[in-house]
Amino acid sequence: MDIEDVSSWPAMQREAEGQDARKTWLAPSPAAPHDEWWLWKPSLPTKGSAERRLTHIAEYATAQLARIMGLPVAECRLATRDGEIGILSHNFCPPPFSLTHGAALLPQRKHQRLRDIEEALTAVAAPVSCPGLSAFDVFAGYLVLDAWVANTDRHERNWAVLEDLDGAHVLAPTFDHGSALGSGLTDARRESRSIPDFCSGGKATRYEDAGSLLDLAQSALERCDSLPWAERVASTRREEWQAILDSSEGLSQVARTFIDNVLATNQERVSELCRP
Ligand SMILES: Nc1ncnc2c1ncn2[C@@H]1O[C@H](COP(=O)(O)OP(=O)(O)OP(=O)(O)O)[C@@H](O)[C@H]1O
Ligand SMILES: [Mg+2]
Repeated sequence: MDIEDVSSWPAMQREAEGQDARKTWLAPSPAAPHDEWWLWKPSLPTKGSAERRLTHIAEYATAQLARIMGLPVAECRLATRDGEIGILSHNFCPPPFSLTHGAALLPQRKHQRLRDIEEALTAVAAPVSCPGLSAFDVFAGYLVLDAWVANTDRHERNWAVLEDLDGAHVLAPTFDHGSALGSGLTDARRESRSIPDFCSGGKATRYEDAGSLLDLAQSALERCDSLPWAERVASTRREEWQAILDSSEGLSQVARTFIDNVLATNQERVSELCRP
């Protein structure tokens, strides 16, 4: 797969939110309208090693898996800029929309609670790509995705609601999956880590009474009427995600095998959530 070099794309604006000051909004030309802007997120080095984190692969692969599940997701592309690898995340909030993070909708507590999120989303519509579902039904899908890809980072600024000029609210697509799939590990760690332990060790630390990511997804599904998310994970064929990994340039064989096995192991675990 050809990775686009966006070094020549003008920087339109810095992204003030988030942890990395190098995140920048880019566009193919200075006059491009906001719906053609992309957020540039370069990958960072791992702690204590020159190896790059696989945040870009985690973002790219997870976005495609979300799409397979039928979830609304920020479109992601692998790209390079000034010799660095990273991803572009397509702007899902062009004017007249404005974005409010979950943090501003929830009571101030150390940890999020599903019941607060459900309440905060009562007056919020699901994205148009999910007809017949409530915003919380779709949020439950985000948590099933997290359980599949081992994303422990669904904190209250990693989900959001969009508001248009008429004051109508809609759940934003899922975004920021850079921590998924063990992206911060080195290859040496990937080789020595037991996959079952890694998968069962994925805790929902951003939530009160943190159990596993799987427990959290199950609790969310129990708050909804029958939803297809776990079944969609269960019915995904291994070749589908392997094709995604094969199109992720720069993935070492060790990392590819690790991610492949994590997805297979978590697929089995998520399959337990399917209703009989
Ligand atoms: N595709 C997008 N469209 C619109 N806004 C976005 C998009 N992606 C991210 N944002 C906004 O930018 C903020 C920062 O982005 P993001 O959460 O992806 O990075 P971050 O938290 O700094 O990431 P990381 O934790 O991976 O370093 C988000 O909280 C959200 O407000
Ligand atoms: Mg974030």
